[in-house]
Amino acid sequence: MAAIPSRPRVLCISGPNLQLLGTREPEVYGNVTLDDIHVRLAKRARELGLAVDARQTNHEGTIVDWIGASRADGFAGLVLNPGAYTHTSIAIHDALRAVALPCVEVHLSNVDAREAFRRRSRVAPACIGRVSGFGADSYELGLEGLARFLSRA
Ligand code: DQA
Repeated sequence: MAAIPSRPRVLCISGPNLQLLGTREPEVYGNVTLDDIHVRLAKRARELGLAVDARQTNHEGTIVDWIGASRADGFAGLVLNPGAYTHTSIAIHDALRAVALPCVEVHLSNVDAREAFRRRSRVAPACIGRVSGFGADSYELGLEGLARFLSRA
């Protein structure tokens, strides 16, 4: 019997404080929990012919470790919400450049419409694109953009 080809795998990483979604500043981030987002993402991934491994950590070094291992771990691309590290982390930028996998930066809030310090992303120059401001939908929209990119590659 012919082997069933496995679906391309996407690594979704959420950074600091995103484990608190649902109760964290709901006027900014909405009421949806990160678990809900992960369930919705897994469903959308199946519809797109992808598989998703969704994780969260509060630690910058863990994000760097996960990105650094992502190519060897067989991932085809990344969906990344670096949280506050978006605005500070050259290490995450460098990890993305080092593995050279396509990455979509996602944010629940519209970072460009908030405080001035959120307008600079250290990570964006190492990404293929960004989705920001659509609440929990930003993750699914980011995955869709990545799926289109992968289908063209
Ligand atoms: C965020 C935006 C960041 O500025 C902030 O530090 C976060 C969440 C978002 O998803 O809107 O933690 O990444």
